[in-house]
This record gives sequence, structure tokens and C-alpha cells, in this order.
Amino acid sequence: MVATIRDARPGDLSEWMPLWQGYCEFYGVEIEPQITMATWARILDPMCELTCRVAEVGGNMVGFAHHHTHLTTWDTRPVAYLEDLFVSPTARGLRVGQALLDDLLALGRQKGWASVYWITAEDNETARRLYDHYTKRDQFVRYAITL
Ligand SMILES: CC(C)(COP(=O)(O)OP(=O)(O)OC[C@H]1O[C@@H](n2cnc3c(N)ncnc32)[C@H](O)[C@@H]1OP(=O)(O)O)[C@@H](O)C(=O)NCCC(=O)NCCS
Repeated sequence: MVATIRDARPGDLSEWMPLWQGYCEFYGVEIEPQITMATWARILDPMCELTCRVAEVGGNMVGFAHHHTHLTTWDTRPVAYLEDLFVSPTARGLRVGQALLDDLLALGRQKGWASVYWITAEDNETARRLYDHYTKRDQFVRYAITL
């Protein structure tokens, strides 16, 4: 199964929304509607770093990858953070996740990023099986304080 990967477009909202809701459900979070709409507006804003690459199979949207780049003190080039990756449960195991990751790496090489990084839950075995095909996990531990 070959997925087509491209940037999200304004007309994609109705297909992106159920995928986004599926992603939020997967994490058991309720994101307020105005925040979801602000996220969508940022995705479409060319001046904003947040980018959404969508995966289509047979003309239907089946997944997305959200990323944004930021500065780093360890390189003059930016690094990219893959914040959200989701594939519809009906399209899992078809290498759509792999296609989204491959696309992001190709994009990064083309744009001159120093690296692409992401985090996942220790026990997210399905995602880690995919990620382990690419590289070894590192040994950093995340701390976060809600403000
Ligand atoms: C993680 C996720 C994006 C993978 O997407 P996908 O399109 O199914 O991934 P792929 O088809 O490219 O599969 C990659 C590997 O994972 C395996 N895999 C994917 N889904 C699986 C499942 N439900 N059960 C067992 N193995 C699975 C594939 O067999 C493949 O392994 P292999 O190469 O050893 O055969 C998808 O499962 C998902 O959206 N999960 C919920 C959200 C999530 O966890 N996002 C990541 C958060 S960091």
C-alpha cells in the first residue's frame, strides 16, 4: 500500500478533524475546540513553524504528522520536533506511519535540518516497533511543569 504524503490544505479540515480527535482520544486528552481551531489555523499559516503533513491512501486522508523546527545551541541549523503522529486504526500496519516518517526525514534533508527528534511513552510498543526501525532510543528523561 503506497501512501501519498503532502502538506495539509485549507479544504482538509473535515478529514483532519476526526483523525485529530482519534489522536486526542488515544492520549485520553480533551482539547478545547478553540485550541483545536487555533492549531488548525497555525498549520495553515505559512508564517507559523507548525506544519502538518497528511497521508492519503486511495484519495482518503488516513494519517498525519505535525512538526515544527526550533533553534539549537549545538548547531547553526534548526532541529525539528515531531510532535504528533497518528494513523487511522483502519489503516494501521500498512506502512503509512513509516511513509510519514520517511517523508519527514526527506523534508529535513532537503531543508537542511540538523536532526529530527520525538518522544513517546515507554509502553507505546506499537509506535516503538516502528521507531526502532529507524534508530535506538536515547537515554534522556523528560521533565515538565504545567504553568
Ligand atoms: C504508531 C502508529 C503511527 C504506527 O502507524 P502504522 O501506519 O500502523 O505503522 P506502520 O504500518 O508503518 O508499521 C510499522 C511497524 O509497526 C507494526 N505495527 C503497526 N501497527 C501495529 C499493530 N496494531 N499491532 C502490531 N504491530 C503493528 C507494523 O507491523 C510494523 O512493524 P514491522 O515493520 O516490524 O512489520 C499508529 O499505530 C498510531 O497512530 N498509533 C496511535 C497513536 C500513536 O501512538 N502515535 C505515536 C505517538 S508518539
